[in-house]
Amino acid sequence: MSRTKQPRAPLTHFLCLPLVTLESRPQLQASLQQFSADILTSGPDGQDVIPEKAIRPVDTLHLTIGVMSLGEPEKLERALRHLESIDLRNLLQAAPTAKPDLDAVPFQVPAEIVPLALSLESVATMHPPASASVLYSTPVDTTNRLGFFCQLLRDSFQKEGLVEDDGRPLLLHATILNTTYASERGANNRKPKGKARRTGKITFDAREIISRYEGFVFLKDSRIENVAICRMGAKRTVDEETGSAIEKYEVVREVSLP
Ligand SMILES: *[C@@H]1O[C@H](CO)[C@@H](O)[C@H](O)[C@H]1NC(C)=O
Repeated sequence: MSRTKQPRAPLTHFLCLPLVTLESRPQLQASLQQFSADILTSGPDGQDVIPEKAIRPVDTLHLTIGVMSLGEPEKLERALRHLESIDLRNLLQAAPTAKPDLDAVPFQVPAEIVPLALSLESVATMHPPASASVLYSTPVDTTNRLGFFCQLLRDSFQKEGLVEDDGRPLLLHATILNTTYASERGANNRKPKGKARRTGKITFDAREIISRYEGFVFLKDSRIENVAICRMGAKRTVDEETGSAIEKYEVVREVSLP
């Protein structure tokens, strides 16, 4: 049936929890700086070298909930409206217990909601650690609501046909290193060397880094403030507070978490 299959529309946006806030930024910046100084100087196992460009700029850190093709203005508008229509308070309350009935009107709204806060711990990769190209830190939420909350959000965007169902369980991860950004010619205007020239992908042995960073805390108990729809492709811009050059994703729409 692949003959009749429509070509996939390009992915343009993603639904996410941004991790960088005024409160979290200094902490994230410090731990990421320490991490990159460490792995760039001591290097991974063997002869592999990690390119500096692979380390993600602090302001790009986020947890992806779903990716979307919103090239058509009408569909983009529908996604933004859908984000604004979701009752995040209800989802957060529903998260620790059973799957909620989203249409049900609660008889009693508890007065207070514990804000969603999370830590980022350890370093992992979704590929075989001996030939990794991505490293991420794992979000840990002591109230255990994060995974279910994000799954409910994703389901709700899937039901609207906005997020594609790839049939895989949601793996929440904060990417801190991705060699794709080092192999793009635009990034440093040079062709990657060594392994990358042959495979088109820079990989390295991450086993030692992963074991050394087990339990390392990149971020401690930081409040998640927003759910956002961002445009793919981080942009260079100027930080309004400090006037320094930064790189981040453009937030197209964001809604506040209670
Ligand atoms: C690595 O970067 C590429 C290019 O932006 C992206 O398509 C891919 O999803 C990234 N992988 C992860 C796990 O962040």
